[in-house]
Amino acid sequence: METLEKVHPASKVQTPGAAKTMKALVYHGPGKKSWEDKPQPTITKPTDAIVKIFKTTICGTDLHIMKGDVPEVTDGRIIGHEGVGVIEEVGTGVSNFKKGDHVLISCITSCGKCEYCKKGMYSHCEDGGWILGHLIDGTQAEYVRIPHADNSLYPIPAGADEEALVMLSDILPTGFECGVLNGQVKPGDTIAIVGSGPIGIAALLTAQFYTPAEIIMIDPDENRLNVAKTFGATKTINNAKEDAIKKIMSLTNGKGVDVAIEAVGVPATFELCTAIIAPGGHVANIGVHGKSVTLHMETLWSHNITITTRLVDTVTTPMLLKTVQSKKLEPNRLITHHFRLDQAMEAYETFGNAAKEKALKVILTNN
Ligand SMILES: NC(=O)c1ccc[n+]([C@@H]2O[C@H](COP(=O)([O-])OP(=O)(O)OC[C@H]3O[C@@H](n4cnc5c(N)ncnc54)[C@H](O)[C@@H]3O)[C@@H](O)[C@H]2O)c1
Ligand SMILES: [Zn+2]
Ligand SMILES: [Zn+2]
Repeated sequence: METLEKVHPASKVQTPGAAKTMKALVYHGPGKKSWEDKPQPTITKPTDAIVKIFKTTICGTDLHIMKGDVPEVTDGRIIGHEGVGVIEEVGTGVSNFKKGDHVLISCITSCGKCEYCKKGMYSHCEDGGWILGHLIDGTQAEYVRIPHADNSLYPIPAGADEEALVMLSDILPTGFECGVLNGQVKPGDTIAIVGSGPIGIAALLTAQFYTPAEIIMIDPDENRLNVAKTFGATKTINNAKEDAIKKIMSLTNGKGVDVAIEAVGVPATFELCTAIIAPGGHVANIGVHGKSVTLHMETLWSHNITITTRLVDTVTTPMLLKTVQSKKLEPNRLITHHFRLDQAMEAYETFGNAAKEKALKVILTNN
């Protein structure tokens, strides 16, 4: 059940000294969200910045949150962890940014100083990680507070296509780091990507840095498979219509694939990856899982395979930004729908019914 809260116009009138309000998309427990008034964020630590959102989007992870798969997200949380915007205010400890700077927001907050940050594992920063739209209020709002702004924001180069850069907050680094790098994609490899959503397509795009021989996309959504072909998939399998395991085995002379990338987040798709992996292969999980999966050790124990999991670190964001600037990657091609930020509820309807709506990435603009 979804609720669209109606706010009386009088409630917008602000009394001097009272906290300023803004509009935001707020989670109220599984299946419940509303577009409502919230206090505007303020600087709470010297390392914070307040960013006025210019453009944001919805992630498959937000759909998992709405399903109740991410129980740490509590009632009243503003969700969203992607976007670009303009700095409204910085704390006294922020040295890389000032009011008016255009910035890319990373879905991962990182202090840059702790043991994990020093290892490049920003996802496990002791004072950050994936907190935006999860443990603290996120980006599907008019304003957002970004902790550790110096390390968690990236300057947007002058003249850049800011809409395209929204794809750098999460999906491109996620597809690349959790899928392609962890899967150790190599020239000549045969790869299967299970899930042809934005994340699967981000893995498809960035796998091509390494010239694999075959990239096979698997999804029940025919439209998304057709889109994947235009992004470089060499073969597609609609697993609602045919048996993906049989098809992969017939395409690979019974061997299976060198790399299987899981980009859905349900038990069936993880188990599919472990069923189609060739001896010595890599299963790279990307999906956010809310349920336990079966691991068939009775067959896998002798297959010399590697299984990896990863929360995106976003350590490759500066590199990916260069590939977008040089047009080696054109992530704006993933954008299928545009909404105003105040149409966030409609945007969820569209992204949540992606097959029917032919949706991939939706952009919400705060005018
Ligand atoms: N590890 C990370 O750091 C990280 C970061 C971001 C997103 N994610 C996760 O990545 C996953 C994908 O995100 P997205 O934005 O592309 O989501 P999405 O919901 O838009 O796409 C998922 C795709 O999976 C397909 N699918 C559903 N069931 C399937 C099945 N049985 N077999 C094959 N395909 C199936 C759907 O048709 C859809 O195209 C989500 O689980 C998301 O939470 C993980
Ligand atoms: Zn995400
Ligand atoms: Zn840290």
